[in-house]
Amino acid sequence: MLVPASRDISGPDLTPTQIVDYLDRYIIGQKQAKRVVAIALRNRARRARVEGELQDEIIPKNILMIGPTGVGKTEIARRLSTLMSAPFIKVEATKYTEVGYVGRDVESMVRDLVESAVRMVKNRKREAVEAAAEAMAIEIILDAMTHHRPRRRQFPAQEEFAAAEQALDDDSDQISRLRERLRRKISAAEMDGNEIEIEVADSQPKMVEIFSNAGIEEMGVNLQDMLGGLMPSKKRKRKTTVAEAKKILTAAEAEKMIDMDDAAAEAIKLVEQSGIIFIDEIDKIAGREKSGSGPDVSREGVQRDILPIVEGSTVNTKYGPVKTNHVLFIAAGAFSHSKPSDLIPELQGRFPLRVELENLSRDDFKRILTEPKNALIKQYIALMESDGVNLTFTEDGIDEIADAASRVNKQTENIGARRLHTMLEKVLEDISFNAPDVAQGDMKIDKNHVRETLKDIIDDVDLSRYIL
Ligand SMILES: Nc1ncnc2c1ncn2[C@@H]1O[C@H](COP(=O)(O)OP(=O)(O)OP(=O)(O)O)[C@@H](O)[C@H]1O
Ligand SMILES: [Mg+2]
Repeated sequence: MLVPASRDISGPDLTPTQIVDYLDRYIIGQKQAKRVVAIALRNRARRARVEGELQDEIIPKNILMIGPTGVGKTEIARRLSTLMSAPFIKVEATKYTEVGYVGRDVESMVRDLVESAVRMVKNRKREAVEAAAEAMAIEIILDAMTHHRPRRRQFPAQEEFAAAEQALDDDSDQISRLRERLRRKISAAEMDGNEIEIEVADSQPKMVEIFSNAGIEEMGVNLQDMLGGLMPSKKRKRKTTVAEAKKILTAAEAEKMIDMDDAAAEAIKLVEQSGIIFIDEIDKIAGREKSGSGPDVSREGVQRDILPIVEGSTVNTKYGPVKTNHVLFIAAGAFSHSKPSDLIPELQGRFPLRVELENLSRDDFKRILTEPKNALIKQYIALMESDGVNLTFTEDGIDEIADAASRVNKQTENIGARRLHTMLEKVLEDISFNAPDVAQGDMKIDKNHVRETLKDIIDDVDLSRYIL
């Protein structure tokens, strides 16, 4: 896992330079887009530090990313989401026009964002109680191993009684010494292989699922949770190893220690102050035809639905109402068949930061193949290595691939860096196929190899449409 240079700086404290530096590790070029995104995020952090009423007056400046397909729009947003510890989701604007989604309101994007924030907060809280939860888990395992269950005092009224009973139990020093010894061994993972029997919560009965349909989702309630709460959770016995039991029980105990109301409140605050919603394919809902053509919902209708959320409104979720006034929206689209001005004016006005992503050049392709942390060529080398093949690319080989990709993009359809994926797959097809059989060996991809594998395809435009 790759982490930002300064791991201890939390998301909101990152400076624009740091954000851009991080993006640079994965995305080639697109300087302007990276800058704008970084500024928008920093502005929000700045806003959080503004005191008093003025804070509410400062509206996040939403971003519209415009650019041809496959040049890094989605990639930038995806990388941002891993970098910032802000709740993030990506939706396709077109999904709200799809037949199956008629009636599925756009507010679900906010609900999904809250869900992701709840997961984040719970993970964080889980980490915080991890040690305590594991200690509890070990006690439960001890109980199971020693068949000696000290009563856990829960109510003050019981205390006297419990104390008396405890005294009896504790009477045998031997037991407590044994427990102590076992406790240490379990903690040190020395008992991991031993088998024990523990009680685990049974999963929810399946019948509840019948009720979960879109209608209920829209109400923002979760029937499963509601009914689940009403039905006592069933326990069942399960044989397992100490190592596994420690894992299961620690998770269960941690769950009990997390206050869900707290977590929900925290998640909502997080969404309201730092949530990011990425709306992809916004260009596909641009255009102002009055009624939907065919079975699709009117595109303008979808824009009108989205508008209040972007402008700021309150959306009910099962965790409580969420204000969207300060959620940051990043919209993106190729706008090849429409223009940003085809969006309804109100929506245009809500995306004041415009940034155009550039077409990728042959040189960009070359860098994309080699430089990013997750560069395609690095991926293939690692893949082949697992089959014992030592794959190398010569400089002129890489040049040739970049060149060919650029050419095919021009001749057929420009799909940006995506072309590199299909290209490489083709160039390496034989090697991929044969790698397990050649066992050990060196494989060099040079200019000739690339030319050889691609020559028949590239020269035939029709063929390259299908294969590359
Ligand atoms: N500038 C870039 N640097 C590195 N890799 C890139 C770049 N642009 C695109 N890629 C690669 O190409 C793939 C497609 O890019 P991405 O999903 O960002 O396209 P997009 O701009 O969102 O296109 P679309 O408009 O079709 O959604 C990504 O998986 C990424 O690996
Ligand atoms: Mg995209």
